[in-house]
Amino acid sequence: KLADFRGLKQGNLRLAVITTAKYFVPRVLGPFRHRYPGINISLQVINRQQVLERLNENLDDLYILGQPPDNLDINLRPVLENPLVAIAPHNHPLAKEKNISLQRLAQEPFIMREPGSGTRMVVEGFFKENRVELNVEMEIGSNEAIKQAIAGGLGLSILSRHSLALEGTNGPLTVLDVEGLPIQRHWYIIYPASKQLSVVARTFLDYFLEEGKQIAEQTTLEYMQGTLVK
Ligand code: PGA
Repeated sequence: KLADFRGLKQGNLRLAVITTAKYFVPRVLGPFRHRYPGINISLQVINRQQVLERLNENLDDLYILGQPPDNLDINLRPVLENPLVAIAPHNHPLAKEKNISLQRLAQEPFIMREPGSGTRMVVEGFFKENRVELNVEMEIGSNEAIKQAIAGGLGLSILSRHSLALEGTNGPLTVLDVEGLPIQRHWYIIYPASKQLSVVARTFLDYFLEEGKQIAEQTTLEYMQGTLVK
């Protein structure tokens, strides 16, 4: 207990998060790590399917994903909103249009995330629900590589708005104004209800809910303002 007060908490913190959470989790870990330098952190950044597998195997302390699994008894805390938006290069003909229809968007070559991706699951569900068929031209297993592919003129995609975290729309990419978008999602921090959290994991969870969340919200707000459709 005394050690806690001296900021000398020791141990390992294992986190597994979906690929889009990489745009805010490291920011939150910065101040945490400064406060608790004795805590070693390992952060797995993987897709939804892989997070669920690690959860099943009980490999990590805490998990962050976009849609809680419904077949498991878990504890869950909402973290942040995760809007999915259509992304195109600035010089794309649709970049200047307003209220683009889904049918029009679907005529463009589309770059899709890999099977097992939560983003893919949601995008596929959304177009199915709207009875529009996407023209999937390519599959790429990384948000960053998809962004490069969009910039390279290979097509458009629908990704987390957070994927533009660092550059906003000052980089080569812009957000399209499409009917029905953004698709509103949430991130959750979860762990099995049966799991006894370690002192270190509990410390992080408390920190996250009390302070980390605000840091994430604040950073998000700042860069979201740069990603508004111009
Ligand atoms: P993904 O997860 O990295 O598996 O696409 C993103 C999400 O589920 O929001």
